[in-house]
Amino acid sequence: MKKKLLPLVISCVLASSLTSGLSVAKPALSNTSNSSSVSKEIWQDDRQAMDTFINELMAKMTLKEKIGQLDLQAGKGQLTGSYRNKNYAKQIKAGHLGAIFNTTGAKQTRMLQEIAVEETRLGIPLLFGYDTIHGFKTIFPLSLGEAASWDLEAIEKSARVSARESAAAGLHWTFAPMVDISRDPRWGRISEGAGEDVYLGNQVALARVKGFQGDDLSKPDTVMATAKHFAVYGAAEGGRDYNSTDVSERSLRSLYLPPFKALVDAGVATIMTAFNDLNGVPATGNDYLLNDILRDEWGFEGFVVTDYTAVEEMVDHGFAKDSKHAAELALNAGADMDMVGQNYFKHLEASVKEGKVSIETIDKSVRRILAMKYRLGLFEDPYRYSNEANEKRETLSKENLAAARDVARKSMVLLKNDNQTLPLAADLTSIALIGPLADSKADMIGSWAGRGDRKKQPVTVLEGLQAKLGDKVKINYAKGASYNYKGNTNKGFGAAMVAAKKSDVIVAVMGESEKMTGEASSRTSLTLPGNQLALLRELKKLRKPIVLVLMNGRPLNLNWADEKADAILETWYAGTMGGHAIADVLVGDYNPSGKLPMSFPRNVGQIPVYHSMKNTGRPFSEDLTGGARNYSSRYENLENTPLYAFGHGLSYTQFDYSDIELSSDTMTETSTIEAKVKVTNSGNYDGEEVVQLYIQDLVGSVTRPVKELKGFEKLMIKKGETKEVSFTISADDLAFYRRDMSYGAEAGEFKLYIGTASDNTQSASFSLTGS
Ligand code: BGC
Repeated sequence: MKKKLLPLVISCVLASSLTSGLSVAKPALSNTSNSSSVSKEIWQDDRQAMDTFINELMAKMTLKEKIGQLDLQAGKGQLTGSYRNKNYAKQIKAGHLGAIFNTTGAKQTRMLQEIAVEETRLGIPLLFGYDTIHGFKTIFPLSLGEAASWDLEAIEKSARVSARESAAAGLHWTFAPMVDISRDPRWGRISEGAGEDVYLGNQVALARVKGFQGDDLSKPDTVMATAKHFAVYGAAEGGRDYNSTDVSERSLRSLYLPPFKALVDAGVATIMTAFNDLNGVPATGNDYLLNDILRDEWGFEGFVVTDYTAVEEMVDHGFAKDSKHAAELALNAGADMDMVGQNYFKHLEASVKEGKVSIETIDKSVRRILAMKYRLGLFEDPYRYSNEANEKRETLSKENLAAARDVARKSMVLLKNDNQTLPLAADLTSIALIGPLADSKADMIGSWAGRGDRKKQPVTVLEGLQAKLGDKVKINYAKGASYNYKGNTNKGFGAAMVAAKKSDVIVAVMGESEKMTGEASSRTSLTLPGNQLALLRELKKLRKPIVLVLMNGRPLNLNWADEKADAILETWYAGTMGGHAIADVLVGDYNPSGKLPMSFPRNVGQIPVYHSMKNTGRPFSEDLTGGARNYSSRYENLENTPLYAFGHGLSYTQFDYSDIELSSDTMTETSTIEAKVKVTNSGNYDGEEVVQLYIQDLVGSVTRPVKELKGFEKLMIKKGETKEVSFTISADDLAFYRRDMSYGAEAGEFKLYIGTASDNTQSASFSLTGS
């Protein structure tokens, strides 16, 4: 099985002002970045015909109608939407509204579209958007969970199903994927992304957009995707949502921007600004991010939407003096559409008259939005998405539910499994199923769960196990504890102990309430909330095997469980079919194959802890011979390593890795080398393994991480079988932002690691020579 590494997609940036006076530590090879051809074939339009159409239309539009196109209003919705602007029906009728979100359903969208198309002067159709994040009605696992599958086909499938269900409900546009890289599990929105790593983040982002937008945006079962939140939202200080960010140009380019750039190259239709300020400038009014990088450097052709009320929030940031000033700053910076706040709608006419905003700037933004409406085919048939028969057929179809179960199983990560506690023994007669999440429908689908039903549809772990085991096994269920922060009594412990005493094994389903994850859900502690840990300690006294099934949206502090539980299965929030999928894994009908997309810290004080850290001038050492004090970079009271490393995830079977075989130990700027390993399944189950490739650049013109993920391959290896995995390494894979901020590789020595987790690898060495 061969894998060609995808070329890096970061464009070259020459920041000449930064180079002066600096000496470059070693000769840089000429720039190796691949300017990765812009693959916009998903926007299959005849550009000339589109331009002519839009020119003619815009020639007829009044300034007010143009500004209306830049306005996005919230309709009825359970997430962030409210009827903030009660007059939006009136606004549609006047031809003064471009787009609506949180109104869903073929019938409802059609009704509003009819007003826009049939009752206005120019009949410009509306866009309907929505936060379809990890499912619309059929809910898939939480985004972070899906990333843990490292299964790009599965991730694409989830987005594809979500797109079909959304489109069938009249929607043209989803506000996903969130591609914010973050290394801070305190941040609640970590649950919406793909974790800590830029390479994995890029691959997951691309799979999602492919799933949402398909190969042709004009097909009525695809939706426009949104890369959000541009940019650096995931670096909020202290992990506190909306907080300020301050990052260097190098971190910006190396860590936070790459997923956005990859998506722009892949033809993502829209970009959403972030709430935070970046180095002192709010992202929504950030000319450098939106005009310079996104448009001038990257050539982004879609449109930019602000986040919810982010325009007027620049007043609170202390960046704009009032909402009119904020509107001018945002539009001039390149934010085309104003979400909810109506700052553009209320003020821009005056701003044009006063010369604060030019008509050319307004026109550019209007054109970008009309172009997307055109590409969606809405000028041909504005009702093509609002089809009730389609909606009925597509919503929660058998096929969609089966896909959700499949992706959920693939997303689970087996963190620990002593004495083969899992899968549960076939001759088991009783299970104590304990915990506040064991039978919680509302939590099963997690945060940002679209229009997913929280009351009936989701299958809980109790229901999943009952369906799987029938009368064969007695399930003794007790809620036992609570995940609430406050107001807990230990009253439920008694019933939990009784259930546990009469059972062969304890399956504790614990974690966070879904409300503790997502937006505005940052936590200062990562322990199991409420009195769940106290109950686990009580249960441990019974000396029965304990399986901890986790439901949560972020890395947790699991020190106690790591020591005392026999097995730990991370299931995130597994979605509508979660209970079935969890049951499949618990009994061994599916062999877990997920790997962590984020390091799990030992405690909050270690944050940030991630696999691609730097060595420092005093690399960590246990050595105490220098005296009582250890002067290496470490904590006095705790190991440096995370509890569970990035890429960690066990299987019911055993995979053995051969040594690495390199086709050569030298390569040049233009040649490649192949690194091969043989992986043998020496255990008792068929299973999938994620073979991971990491590279370390030993000396750089700037300090380099101890290892960086550069490739992976997920493959099924049958029991007793050996498979060879091969990675091709080219200079692109060694490229980084050098000291002078040019992008490329540097000649020198490298180490390559291949293995089952970032902390469990084989290694080999090679060098890159200058010619
Ligand atoms: C969130 C966005 C979301 C928007 C619309 C905001 O609060 O930050 O991610 O797309 O609301 O619901």
